[in-house]
Amino acid sequence: MSEISSETRFLHAIEMGLGAWQWGDRVVWQYGHGYGEKEVQDAFQVTISEGIHFIDTAELYGNGLSERLLGRFMKETNEAVLIATKFFPWPWRFYKGAILRALKGSLARLDVEGVDLYQIHWPSPLMNTDLLMEGLAECIKSGMTRTVGVSNFGQSRMLAAYSSLARHNVALASNQVHYSLLSRAVEKNGTLARCKELGIRLIAYSPIEKGLLAGKYSADNPPPGSRARNYSGLLPKLQPLLKLMTEIGQDHGGKSNAQIALNWVICKGALPIPGAKNTAQAQENAGALGWRLTDEEMAKLDAVSDSILE
Ligand SMILES: NC(=O)c1ccc[n+]([C@@H]2O[C@H](COP(=O)([O-])OP(=O)(O)OC[C@H]3O[C@@H](n4cnc5c(N)ncnc54)[C@H](OP(=O)(O)O)[C@@H]3O)[C@@H](O)[C@H]2O)c1
Repeated sequence: MSEISSETRFLHAIEMGLGAWQWGDRVVWQYGHGYGEKEVQDAFQVTISEGIHFIDTAELYGNGLSERLLGRFMKETNEAVLIATKFFPWPWRFYKGAILRALKGSLARLDVEGVDLYQIHWPSPLMNTDLLMEGLAECIKSGMTRTVGVSNFGQSRMLAAYSSLARHNVALASNQVHYSLLSRAVEKNGTLARCKELGIRLIAYSPIEKGLLAGKYSADNPPPGSRARNYSGLLPKLQPLLKLMTEIGQDHGGKSNAQIALNWVICKGALPIPGAKNTAQAQENAGALGWRLTDEEMAKLDAVSDSILE
């Protein structure tokens, strides 16, 4: 691994975080149906009490509600919280100053003076990578974020971001991408390896594949909302993988499928940020820490996942 810059080192010491897309999102997660503010606050509190302090939110989530809730919840704990949030490249944001301005908006909703990681949520259709990175470098200079990262950047764009930031003497702290036992493009195309080489933390989103790897959904019992449609091809193929995960979990004293899914991501060298809607899910996900799958188990999981994804 290359030398990790001192500013971004803390991210490499974090094993797992908590995703806050569920806090306020009605489009994919049906916030307000079956769970709401009380449940996500409980999930936050359990997570923090389990020693997980890294929370990933975005100005986009719940149209700012996720950030506002996090701001409120933080006031009710004395524990340190590490905040990661994101800039969304709306088409009307075509100049670099929009990035610092958006960060100020996030800080106002969070009611804090600075965050720990500020990420570009998706590549911009209108701003090139150099311009986006100039905007992020300004955010660092302003002192309003400790580090900066990108999200959904393919390998070549990520390398361009890395070099562009380096010209401003800023390290690219992270690339947040889709990574799970059922989504392994970043592993297969070399992005994960390149991140390790360059000291960029790969933050894995949807590490439980939006609930599919927890084992409660099947073709006969699909998840609610848009997930049913998006996963209609994958749901009928899941059983061999879920069965193996359950067997391996039993060998580890009854670890659940969600815990196996998260531990697999950690063993691959990435930082999973599972979303949780309630105490039970948050508590269960925290149980992915403190133990490791063996190399042999990883190889078996890889092989069955390959057979599903091929
Ligand atoms: N940068 C990006 O573009 C991007 C994209 C996606 C996500 N993210 C980030 O990554 C985070 C996590 O990804 P994600 O929310 O898409 O997917 P995920 O973490 O793979 O899945 C979360 C969902 O799985 C179910 N679940 C969680 N824990 C469970 C457990 N222990 N047992 C059973 N079911 C469980 C819950 O949904 P149900 O109970 O409804 O099944 C929960 O909402 C997000 O919150 C967000 O912060 C970023």
